[in-house]
Amino acid sequence: MKDNNDILILGIESSCDETAASVVKNGRYVMSNIISSQIAIHTEYGGVVPEIASRKHIENIDYVIDEAVKGAGVTFDDIDAIAVTYGPGLVGALLVGVSEAKALAYALNKPLVGVNHIEGHICANYIHDINFEPPYVALVVSGGHSHLLYVKDYDSFEILGRTRDDAAGEAYDKVARSIGMGYPGGPKIDAAAQKGNAEAIEFPRVFLEENSFDFSFSGLKSAVLNYLNKMKMTNNEINPYDVAASFQKAVIEVLTQKTIAAAKFKGVKKVAMAGGVSSNSALRKEMKRLCDENEFSLNVPAPVFCTDNAAMIASAGYYEYIKGARSGLDLNANPNLKLGER
Ligand code: KG4
Ligand code: ZN
Repeated sequence: MKDNNDILILGIESSCDETAASVVKNGRYVMSNIISSQIAIHTEYGGVVPEIASRKHIENIDYVIDEAVKGAGVTFDDIDAIAVTYGPGLVGALLVGVSEAKALAYALNKPLVGVNHIEGHICANYIHDINFEPPYVALVVSGGHSHLLYVKDYDSFEILGRTRDDAAGEAYDKVARSIGMGYPGGPKIDAAAQKGNAEAIEFPRVFLEENSFDFSFSGLKSAVLNYLNKMKMTNNEINPYDVAASFQKAVIEVLTQKTIAAAKFKGVKKVAMAGGVSSNSALRKEMKRLCDENEFSLNVPAPVFCTDNAAMIASAGYYEYIKGARSGLDLNANPNLKLGER
């Protein structure tokens, strides 16, 4: 249902391997959330194949958008603006969503708002808790990005740290592949780690320089590969559950301790997480434990809003829209779009 003062945003997301559309009311209330995942197709190749992703987006996008509008119990007339991810991501995949959004905006004569995918991930927190507001410290960990941010306001971010090499999700995916767990690695390692001993293997915790909020995961990934090679060469049996649990513990220790240090540094008592890796059960548990210990509140979206979805894009679009931000029909996909850049 839409009341007179309500603002409904149709969000469209196609930056990687999910074709998604969603209608969100006033930036906070999810009226529909349709996600068509291509995971099953890309699993066959051990990772996302960009060309296939683009083709599948084209096949799915009309249906996904129709379902989102229908599912919300509204019509296209009720939509106030169309928000679309225009970067960062795979250029061909992004172009499908951007072209579709532009065509819709033109045909329906509705405003168009280009959204940064990472800002979208952060906004998933506003859906999760309708009273959650900036300022806070956010750990954003996905397949392509790892950031520690001070979120000053809905559209204002200070980057405290970022990965210097692999993203956290990328490390999960690569390690999973090396122990034969396939794609996407994150959920597989999450499940496998529950059956393993996290103390079995001592992998490095890379904290970098004192007071640095940056991350580096490539050394840890190499340490896992070296361990596997050494075990194979000496004809020792590898316990993939122990490798998964020990690797995961090393990642989580660094992510959580740096996040807590960042919150202390900024003097805030509110912590949030976002991005696909924040759906990890052990990360959520350890972050909660440390936040409780430090008397910080912790906000984490439900797992379905941590991984790619369009509700988060509609929410981010709403905050841009009410600020007056509009994109022209010349909006283009920007695969390397940076946080805070327009
Ligand atoms: O945010 P997202 O869906 O897409 C990007 O924007 O990249 O994140 C995908 C990443 C993948 O690397 C995937 O392995 C990881 O998030 N991931 C997880 C879990 N679920 C997804 N990593 C750890 N534990 C999980 N449960
Ligand atoms: Zn994402």
